[in-house]
Amino acid sequence: MKTKVKPDKQKIKSILARYDGDAGMLVAILQDVQAEYNYLPKEALVLVGEGLDVPLSQVYSVASFFKAFSLKPRGRHLINVCLGTACHVRGAGKVLDEIQRELNIKSGETTEDLRYTLETVNCVGACALGPIVVIDGSYSGQMTGSKVKPLLESYK
Ligand code: FES
Repeated sequence: MKTKVKPDKQKIKSILARYDGDAGMLVAILQDVQAEYNYLPKEALVLVGEGLDVPLSQVYSVASFFKAFSLKPRGRHLINVCLGTACHVRGAGKVLDEIQRELNIKSGETTEDLRYTLETVNCVGACALGPIVVIDGSYSGQMTGSKVKPLLESYK
């Protein structure tokens, strides 16, 4: 993944100001940074550490402890392809292949234009409608390879 976001110093300063530079609010501050960039850019973590007078190692340990935080760039849209048994036997693998081919990324990666992040999950509780693809929390059932392109195109 080559695409990187350059954090704006002023933006980080204004996030820190919201919390009066209180190091005890580190998690909330990181949540706000992630809301801004969709992930936690390294440069932003450095600025947060400096602004709070907290060692960078401590900022990193909090950022990597919580699963909700991502240290890698994330796309604007999160695609989850269900590979649970029920979806798998109905052809989820082919749907995943088609998405990977269409976006030119593999599961766990993000497109260079930061439009999509692709992940797989094991059962999202809608087995009867499989194969299921969930984009930004919205379910599409009975997916086939030919439905992939129009579905992706509906997410700008
Ligand atoms: S296996 Fe895909 S929804 Fe259950």
